[in-house]
Amino acid sequence: MSTAPDNLPDALIAALHDEIAAADLVSNPETAADAIEAARVDWLGRKSGRVTALFGRMKDVAPEGRRAFGQQLNGLKQAAEAKLAEAQDALKATEQAAGALDAKGRRLDLTLPGRFPAPHGSIHPLTQTRMEIEAIFAGFGFGVAEGPEIEDDWHNFSALNFGPEHPARDMQDTFFVDAPPPNGPGTVLRTHTSPVQVRVMEHAVTKGTGPPIRMIAPGRVFRNERITYKSYCLFHQVEGLVVDESVTFADLKEILVRFAEALFGGDVRMRFRPSFFPFTEPSAEVDIWWADDSLPGGGRWMEILGCGMVDPNVLTNVGIDAERYTGYAFGMGIERMCMLKHGIGDIRLFYENDVRFLQQF
Ligand code: PHE
Repeated sequence: MSTAPDNLPDALIAALHDEIAAADLVSNPETAADAIEAARVDWLGRKSGRVTALFGRMKDVAPEGRRAFGQQLNGLKQAAEAKLAEAQDALKATEQAAGALDAKGRRLDLTLPGRFPAPHGSIHPLTQTRMEIEAIFAGFGFGVAEGPEIEDDWHNFSALNFGPEHPARDMQDTFFVDAPPPNGPGTVLRTHTSPVQVRVMEHAVTKGTGPPIRMIAPGRVFRNERITYKSYCLFHQVEGLVVDESVTFADLKEILVRFAEALFGGDVRMRFRPSFFPFTEPSAEVDIWWADDSLPGGGRWMEILGCGMVDPNVLTNVGIDAERYTGYAFGMGIERMCMLKHGIGDIRLFYENDVRFLQQF
């Protein structure tokens, strides 16, 4: 039995159902929002909505058919509402996927200007100090060389005249690395930048480019140290090497004094102490005065570098004529330089990456 009035066949309601079911409102994301709103007005709009209008025809229906007709119309209305809600959800999902909405579903205005001034980083104090050191030595005519952080026994120890029983070869002091051949046993995280001396000299000999050699080599080194305010398991050094005819200890001393004056100022207090390294002879260590009123004596000496005349054995090891050439070498700790320069009392601050510390430089 038909429930619709005669001039409103069931077929019309069925056609509207089909139209709603088939409507594709979100195929074009650009216009989807408008399409959804247009469909809402077309179907459910208060004045001209076609579904809404059908409710107005209720009075044309015979009383006994009204209940069934009402159910049909409600079904149609719900289908339209469900279709619109589904389209809204689909649109939101595509917008979110495209990043146009934030996590709370709010529309983002991508044309807004950013927040200024934007926070910006700065160069790490150790890097700054390294660059200052490089600039000073560049002024003295030194080139810059680099070497690997994972070294073999030859470059880190043997070529540098370290005897087999030297304590630096001890597992307790040095990070040894399980390495496949050809490096194999003896592969270490370099304990100092001195292996770069060996590499640079070997290179100069093989390529026939020197001596004369005049270079510095900055880089990271590793030691199995107890971590305290003044020592850490990794730190940075700058190696220096000069090899030429008639190079003397006086040349070494002059370069280091001029360097310290350039980095710390003309009133820097420094002292040379006799010392020992397997690869220099004679050897010395250099201290800088760390002024601190809280200490008895108003401060203390702080060791910043080791140095000496290149041991003739080392020159021979790399194939340089030790009768003809002499050389000097030095190795300084960048952390120590930076601490002295800026009055930093604890080496661990360099590695914590706390911006409150880093921002100060
Ligand atoms: N390599 C030495 C060290 O790390 C420092 C040094 C370098 C000493 C060059 C003499 C010459 O302690």
